[in-house]
Amino acid sequence: METALLPRNPMVGTAPGHDHIEWESASGVHVHTVDGRDLVDFTSGVFVTNTGHCHPHVVEAVQAQAAQLLNCYDAPTPGRTEVAERLVKLAGPPFDAISLMTTGAEAIDIAVKAARAYTGRYETLSFANAFHGKTLATLSLSGLPGTRRGVGPVMPGSIVGFYPTCYTCPLKLTYPDCAIACFDATEEIFKANTTGSLAAIVVEAYLGAGGAYVAPPEFWPKVRAFADAQGAVLILDEIQTGFGRTGTMFAFEQFGIVPDILVIAKGMASGLPMSAVISRHEILESLAPGILASTYGGNPLCCAACLATLDVIEDEHLPERTMILGKRALDRMRGWAGQIEGIGDVRGIGLAFGIELVKADGSPDPERALRLLYAAEREGVVTLPPAGASSNVVRLAPPLVISEADLDAGLDALERALRS
Ligand SMILES: Cc1ncc(COP(=O)(O)O)c(C=O)c1O
Repeated sequence: METALLPRNPMVGTAPGHDHIEWESASGVHVHTVDGRDLVDFTSGVFVTNTGHCHPHVVEAVQAQAAQLLNCYDAPTPGRTEVAERLVKLAGPPFDAISLMTTGAEAIDIAVKAARAYTGRYETLSFANAFHGKTLATLSLSGLPGTRRGVGPVMPGSIVGFYPTCYTCPLKLTYPDCAIACFDATEEIFKANTTGSLAAIVVEAYLGAGGAYVAPPEFWPKVRAFADAQGAVLILDEIQTGFGRTGTMFAFEQFGIVPDILVIAKGMASGLPMSAVISRHEILESLAPGILASTYGGNPLCCAACLATLDVIEDEHLPERTMILGKRALDRMRGWAGQIEGIGDVRGIGLAFGIELVKADGSPDPERALRLLYAAEREGVVTLPPAGASSNVVRLAPPLVISEADLDAGLDALERALRS
């Protein structure tokens, strides 16, 4: 019998455009590749190392904890309690309860379960091209078509409306004249599909994997009001936007609304797998005791990394720096849009950006996006794999500790790549 040849690298799953750089180590905002190159990091892993790669304070805390206690299931530890207290305080009132987990998708899953238990209902309203994770439950909420292909059916009661993706408006309208008509359309879609059992609205604080879309400010009061009118729980996915990424600790601080459940992960522990659901006791305690515990959730090592991360964010004033540096970078990149062919739109919030690449007729140009990613790397900067429904948006997310000089060096490299 013939034996099938093993592929050269047995590992599967790497995103297109992210399979060609072999990382050996990284420090601060610099990636060192196995072939000896030093690249400026415009990815933060994937919105994770907000404090920079291997920040000495984080490394020291993790090393010390590794020698002390690695697992105790869900028993309290001083670190776990301190994480809980600090995060609830940072989120502010009316939040008073938290549960610690391991991945973003797991935390979204728990948030939806809590909303179901609290309301006694089961439907969710989420948004087209949103991304909330890759488990079966979370991809039921994710409107990004590519994540669902071949794995249906999704969870019953998953209703999907429109996020305000103004550059590619689903209604072909123009902001602000549209008065966010996409939200009215979402309400109509909801009315047409609901069985009267809405448990939760699940929404990203900015549409990350869907193409780095920042919602106009009017969107947020409408979402909040709709959740209230329906008696539904508002779940805000800040997995990508938390921990200073948008210029405030959490993005919702800029929205003028407060969600009922705040879901966080990524930047939380500078690279160790950690996530959390922050809410009110009455909501989280709708789930039976024990349901919120997991093998690794809030383990001592992750808690040590999280506490050190919070120290760095506070001591180095990362949200404030992010606000200033983000605006500077966005202004510069927006200047390219008029000068360099094929840039349809440049958008962002804090230090999270998307460059939308289009053909002469305005249609998406995913090939150019992939070429840009390779060219950028040759010029010395690592970007994220192309995102968006058409894979034509190159996303950038430098660590928040980036210096002005490194930010400029990364942008210079990107500009050379765009012009090449
Ligand atoms: C907004 C958002 N939600 C959820 C997730 C899922 O997180 P995880 O990959 O940790 O499951 C991600 C990951 O990229 C994300 O960006």
